[in-house]
Amino acid sequence: MRILVSAASRHGSTAEIATALGAALRDRGALVDVVEPHDVGDVSGYDAVVIGSAVYRGRWLRPAKEFVDEHAAELRRRPVFLFSSGPIAEQDRPVNNPYDVSTVRHRTGANEHRMFAGKLDLDALSVGERMHVRMSGGRAGDFRDWDAVGGWAGAIVDAVSEAEAGFDAGAASDADAAVPPTVASEGGRSGGESRH
Ligand SMILES: Cc1cc2nc3c(=O)[nH]c(=O)nc-3n(C[C@H](O)[C@H](O)[C@H](O)COP(=O)(O)O)c2cc1C
Repeated sequence: MRILVSAASRHGSTAEIATALGAALRDRGALVDVVEPHDVGDVSGYDAVVIGSAVYRGRWLRPAKEFVDEHAAELRRRPVFLFSSGPIAEQDRPVNNPYDVSTVRHRTGANEHRMFAGKLDLDALSVGERMHVRMSGGRAGDFRDWDAVGGWAGAIVDAVSEAEAGFDAGAASDADAAVPPTVASEGGRSGGESRH
């Protein structure tokens, strides 16, 4: 199982989530590439793709959105998993569902979206960013939940395995359907891509 993990990060904490997720996926037997969105050439060699972004002012970062635009057609053909990292205002309650996520889900046909708590290092921020954080009540600190990130890896591997099993069953049933129609295939399925 080959999985691509690609995440947009401004100050590095989301990139570290991507790296940790990649390691956890490898622990579960997947072959994983963790690549920044702008550096991904082609997604067609992957069985599944994980796309993430830090959230700034309620939006995904541009490299993640451009990645989705560029690869939308290929992404729709395979399981896709999305994650966002934030929030700053209510760290104990992952909220602030970014505005872009519903569009990204729609464009990719993604299986799911997860929100992970992020990290705020005031020293790393620009003056404007620091002002925004102060005004929106954000608290500095590292709120990333590595257990939650690692736990998601197991769910991803399970979901991709199930999708592959479904695809194989679909291919087999399609092959059967190609045999002279001595048995009517009433109500038969039309292929393995049952993702929404
Ligand atoms: C200026 C600024 C705006 C932010 N806006 C949001 C936001 O709207 N929603 C949210 O959940 N998190 C927001 N955050 C929190 C970041 O998403 C969080 O710090 C994240 O971990 C940063 O990821 P990065 O280090 O990969 O850039 C904001 C942070 C900053 C500095």
